[in-house]
Amino acid sequence: MTTPIIRPRRLRATPALRRLASETHLHPSQLVLPLFVREGIDKAVPIVSMPGVMQHSIDSAKRAVAEAAEAGIGGVMLFGVPTVRDAIGSGATDPRGILNVATRALVDEVGDALVVQTDLCLDEFTDHGHCGVLAVDGSVDNDATLIRYNDMALAQAAAGSQLLGLSGMMDGQVAAVRETLDAAGYEDTALLAYSAKYASAFYGPFRDAVESTLEGDRRTYQLNPGNRREGVREAEIDIAEGADVVMVKPAGVYLDVLSDVAAMSSVPVWAYQVSGEYAMIEAAAAQGWIDRKRSIEESVLSIRRAGADAVLTYWATELATWMNEETAR
Ligand code: PBG
Repeated sequence: MTTPIIRPRRLRATPALRRLASETHLHPSQLVLPLFVREGIDKAVPIVSMPGVMQHSIDSAKRAVAEAAEAGIGGVMLFGVPTVRDAIGSGATDPRGILNVATRALVDEVGDALVVQTDLCLDEFTDHGHCGVLAVDGSVDNDATLIRYNDMALAQAAAGSQLLGLSGMMDGQVAAVRETLDAAGYEDTALLAYSAKYASAFYGPFRDAVESTLEGDRRTYQLNPGNRREGVREAEIDIAEGADVVMVKPAGVYLDVLSDVAAMSSVPVWAYQVSGEYAMIEAAAAQGWIDRKRSIEESVLSIRRAGADAVLTYWATELATWMNEETAR
């Protein structure tokens, strides 16, 4: 007797069988939209290296957030683009700084329809473009930066941000900010730790988006792209320090790290599909070399499959709109 053929194709035969046998699902609530709000403009300005993404004015950001809420996505992550920068990133802690002003306006606009989150990092606000303050020798001073982060956390919590995204990769940042918030009565402000954040070339278009002044790189604080185990170690440390959510970034080229972190984490794990990942798909699709919609869906689904509970993606609203259309059909 010959061995019978084992037939996994049975479960792929019809759309209904494929849907029922699907291991990974995408839902609008699992998506977070990063938004750039620029000081001193009264209408949105396109970002050349991120076709379809804008630097928003407060008013256009309000519309984008209302549209995001309408599509049912989980949240927005706000980044500020100030007109003036200095060595210590004063605009980050100033209640009249663009990020804090935008946070107030957008929380006011959407209330509880989605989670308004803010980037907690100095790079958009410093004239040298680093994520922290510099020591006299020009290196990024870890512990002096923590003091700035603490003040920034207080300003953002006061502005109404519900979840602070600690993206600066300073050691001890989660513990420092948690302690500061708790002491000021902001026990309910949640912390998202960008735990495994790699020194990546794929942040290129983002740096255009925030008009980054950085010269050089961030290799003394962001992770070495070759290090997988160290990504897990960073997540362990952040969970121990009190992170409510940990993140892996970039997403698509770090799915192994994401999978490892998802396997060990006791808190939700998110991933950030970064600007370069966005730009690559948009550029190839614009040439007609790949199918835009299918590539977007597959790229985000794959990040979910690798273990992300939620995904930050510049396609969040559009993707959610497609999902809603499919459900309505
Ligand atoms: C730092 C920050 C960066 C991104 C998000 N937060 C850039 C960096 O580390 O240089 C990149 C996001 C993207 O590329 O989409 N505040």
